[in-house]
Amino acid sequence: MLTIERVAEMQAKAESYRKEGKRIGLVPTMGSLHEGHVSLIQAARARSDVVIVTIFVNPTQFGPGEDYERYPRDAVRDQGVAEQAGADVLFMPQVGEIYPSGFATFVEVEDVSSVLEGRFRPNHFRGVTTIVAKLFAITKPHVAVFGQKDAQQAFLIRKMAEELNFDVSIIVAPIVREADGLALSSRNVYLNANERTRATSLHRSLRYAESLVMSGERSAGKVCAGMSRILSEARPSQIDYIAALSPESFSEIETFEPPSALIAIAVRFGSTRLIDNIVIPISEKREAS
Ligand code: PAF
Repeated sequence: MLTIERVAEMQAKAESYRKEGKRIGLVPTMGSLHEGHVSLIQAARARSDVVIVTIFVNPTQFGPGEDYERYPRDAVRDQGVAEQAGADVLFMPQVGEIYPSGFATFVEVEDVSSVLEGRFRPNHFRGVTTIVAKLFAITKPHVAVFGQKDAQQAFLIRKMAEELNFDVSIIVAPIVREADGLALSSRNVYLNANERTRATSLHRSLRYAESLVMSGERSAGKVCAGMSRILSEARPSQIDYIAALSPESFSEIETFEPPSALIAIAVRFGSTRLIDNIVIPISEKREAS
């Protein structure tokens, strides 16, 4: 596996792959790689000839008081995980390489960037779409893979790629979970043992919502109220939101309707903020015979 730190070198390498007719798969990450990232790398591997994994803890997507400084970083371990998972190139630039002094260009998808996660993390998605647009320009991918755990991020990146005519297919890979249901996240390491146990309530509440909707409940208010009860029993420090959404528009819904709905949640245990979601398929009501 090749490790590249310079933008110009990465662009030249990507260009040479393209000239050789190779299909490039991109997996952007902030490092601290876990099995969730491994599944993204494998999804890219299955769809491309060369896989570029990027590791960059992107300062523009962290707000003041968030965890930019303490975000877990372990470049040596990450190199091993990326190579083992099937990466051909690891692009690991320094901050000054990506944001030289005087940098002033940002990419922002309006509206959906400011709801849910965006309401609690102003400018977060502006940072995400800016870095992802830059990574597309630097690594010239044919396909880029993101995780469903960050459902709003995946929605916004797809929208950005479409509206800015990036010639790249966006793949969204399923959430990878621990045996007890906790979605894998680099931030899970912040949880102490007690918080870690209580954090399983996120998945429990989503499964509860799924069973309710599958058994015919159509009121989003009722389903979200039930989820709120389950989450509250786990004594979170805060429930930021429980939202029933249309996966097509990311707008909130009052009634569950076919073909599917997305339920997204953000919950804090201590100072750790966790997000999770579920897509629930909804079938047409059967006509009475
Ligand atoms: O999901 C992440 O790890 C980050 O938001 C991303 C897409 C790598 C951009 O920094």
